[in-house]
Order: sequence, then C-alpha cells, then structure tokens
Amino acid sequence: MRTKLVAGNWKMNGRLHDNAALLTSLQLTATKLKWGCQVTVCVPCPYLTQARAILSGSPVMWGGQDVSEHGDGAYTGEVSAGMLTDLHCTHVLVGHSERRALFGESDQGVAAKFAAALGAGLVPILCVGETLAEREAGITGEVVTRQLDAVLARSGVAALAKAVVAYEPVWAIGTGKTASPQQAQEVHALIRARVARDDAAVAGGLRILYGGSVKAANAAELFAMPDIDGGLIGGASLVAAEFIAICAAAA
Ligand code: 13P
Repeated sequence: MRTKLVAGNWKMNGRLHDNAALLTSLQLTATKLKWGCQVTVCVPCPYLTQARAILSGSPVMWGGQDVSEHGDGAYTGEVSAGMLTDLHCTHVLVGHSERRALFGESDQGVAAKFAAALGAGLVPILCVGETLAEREAGITGEVVTRQLDAVLARSGVAALAKAVVAYEPVWAIGTGKTASPQQAQEVHALIRARVARDDAAVAGGLRILYGGSVKAANAAELFAMPDIDGGLIGGASLVAAEFIAICAAAA
C-alpha cells in the first residue's frame, strides 16, 4: 500500500505577505484534519525559511524546486543539497520540464542533481514527461524511459526506493488540458513496469505522481487510478482552498 503524496510546486511565484496566508491556512487545516496522505510544498528558495517557520510541527513538509549537482563552493547562484537540508527541506524537484526546456538541463545533468539530492538525504522528485510533438509522434514511452534510464544508469534502481517520480506531460502543464485518467495511468504503468524490470519490489513501492493542470475538480478521478500515487500541483497549489481540496481528494 503506497501512501499518497501531494506536492505543491509554487514555481517562481510568491511574496511574504501572500505566502504567510497560504502556508498558515495549509498548516492549520493539515493539523486539524490529519490527512492520511503526505503533503509537501516546493517553494522558491528565498521563502524556505518562511515555510520552515510556519510549517514546523505541522504534518506539511517543504522542499526546493531545484538543486545543484555540486557540493558547496565556488558556484555562484547555485543552491546545494546541503543548504536545503540545513533548512529542513525533505523533498526537492529535479528535472522539472521547465528546467529542461528553458534552462537546458540534460538527462545526464538531471541524473547528477538526483544523485546530489539523494546523497544529502533529500527525497528527489524526479520529473519526466513528453512534449505534445513527442506524444503526437507516438514516442511518449521512449521519452519517459530515456529520462528514467539516465537516473537508473547513474544511481541504480535501489535509489528509487528513496525517491519519487512525477509524470508531467508537458502539454498538460499550465494549459488547463489534463491528461485523462486513462492516458496518465497508461504512462504511470509503463514507468512502473520499467522499474520492475530492474527490481519488482522497488517498483511496487515507488510513488508516481501525476502533474499537469490538476485541480480540485479532477484530482479524485486521477488519484483513483491504480498507478497514480498523488499529484504534483502547479497553479492550484497557490490557491489555499484548491490545494486543500486536492489534499483531501488524496486523503
Ligand atoms: P500546473 O498544475 O499549473 O499545470 O503545473 C504543473 C506542474 O508543472 C507542477 O510541477
């Protein structure tokens, strides 16, 4: 039985004032309702201290949106995995499609970040997913497998026992177009089968989140699919009532 995980990805959004209201409402609700799922919010680095101050002692965890493949040192602008754990982050996103597409992150670079996160004791949330052109060309499986294989080659299948995978079709991100539960399930099953080829037990325990225009209105039907173990939520994670309803759907 896999415990569901709902992860918010604020992306490059937030200001102290608005964050305080959002985080406080999340903290109060989670403490009161004791959801049977795990909840984490991946906030921009400047706001990690604020997340820590408000969420400490509540069931809600917090994490980063990216991490350097390097350890501390002369890497201007980078944030190390050790800095994230210093702020008591539990999770970090790696290989989000926006980082792959806009900041040129390669499969190998993502694999290096995954290894750095794991090495510091963070749970990496490895994002994979195909573009619309790739889906239309019928190579969704190939793309997702290639992205996963880079991590398997670098860290080995045992590493996935301490990680989470998020399937985020690029065409469904921020577009309002959600993959149907069946479309998502098909890719989730493919990811699990790929991991099972290397280790069936790791595959059975691996949480695979769906991301891409998840909202309160469609969360329950997505989370009801056998291989969907929660969600990675962008836009809707910025609206307290929406995000809380999504957590309730997973709980
Ligand atoms: P949206 O939920 O805004 O589509 O974003 C999904 C996403 O990219 C989460 O990482």
